[in-house]
Amino acid sequence: MKITSVAFAGAAAQPGAYPNLPHPEIAFAGRSNVGKSSLINRLLDRQIARTSSTPGRTRQLNFFVVNNTLTFVDLPGYGYAQVSKQERGQWQRLAEDYLSHAQHLRGVVIIVDIRRGPEEEEQTLCEFLSYYHRPFLLVATKCDKLKRAQLEQQRQALVARLDGHPLLLFSAEDGSGKAELWHALLAFVSHTPASSR
Ligand code: GTP
Ligand code: MG
Repeated sequence: MKITSVAFAGAAAQPGAYPNLPHPEIAFAGRSNVGKSSLINRLLDRQIARTSSTPGRTRQLNFFVVNNTLTFVDLPGYGYAQVSKQERGQWQRLAEDYLSHAQHLRGVVIIVDIRRGPEEEEQTLCEFLSYYHRPFLLVATKCDKLKRAQLEQQRQALVARLDGHPLLLFSAEDGSGKAELWHALLAFVSHTPASSR
């Protein structure tokens, strides 16, 4: 995918307060510090989503318009223990409101760390998205952290746990998996949602 333009198009810190954008949207979800913003930056070939080694950095929904045709939505991370229960509840309400109501949302990328794989939170998220008929895809990132043999072993272990659901491997560090992920994202976008058929 050739990226010709990327523009920050706004943020939302409250349910419902989303920028009114006309393009199909793809959201990126995952636990705090898993590498959501880094994955977005790698896909877009630029440092536009803020990344940090401090978990809980992205505290709102950030919207990026790509090539004037597609919107990427960087969601706040979940599962970060260092924030108050109240704050965690607010983020969860915000993400759930967006994921259940967003009119232009065509697909959700659930990002997991290759070394951990999907856990209870991801299971819950998959069930939530299935309930709302939202197409989703699992991506295991930070694959550069494992040696080739370990990577293959871990991939097989995760696939066995996924009940036939596809898993893409990715690394924001070295860019592996980027072409496959773009392919999958464009398939989300070209698929007409059931509601508008
Ligand atoms: P929050 O917004 O806080 O939820 O975090 P995030 O999921 O957006 O993670 P972010 O992209 O900020 O990355 C967190 C840390 O992981 C940073 O130190 C990144 O440099 C590192 N990181 C992200 N992706 C990769 C990867 O593919 N490989 C390696 N080695 N490090 C990565
Ligand atoms: Mg982030």
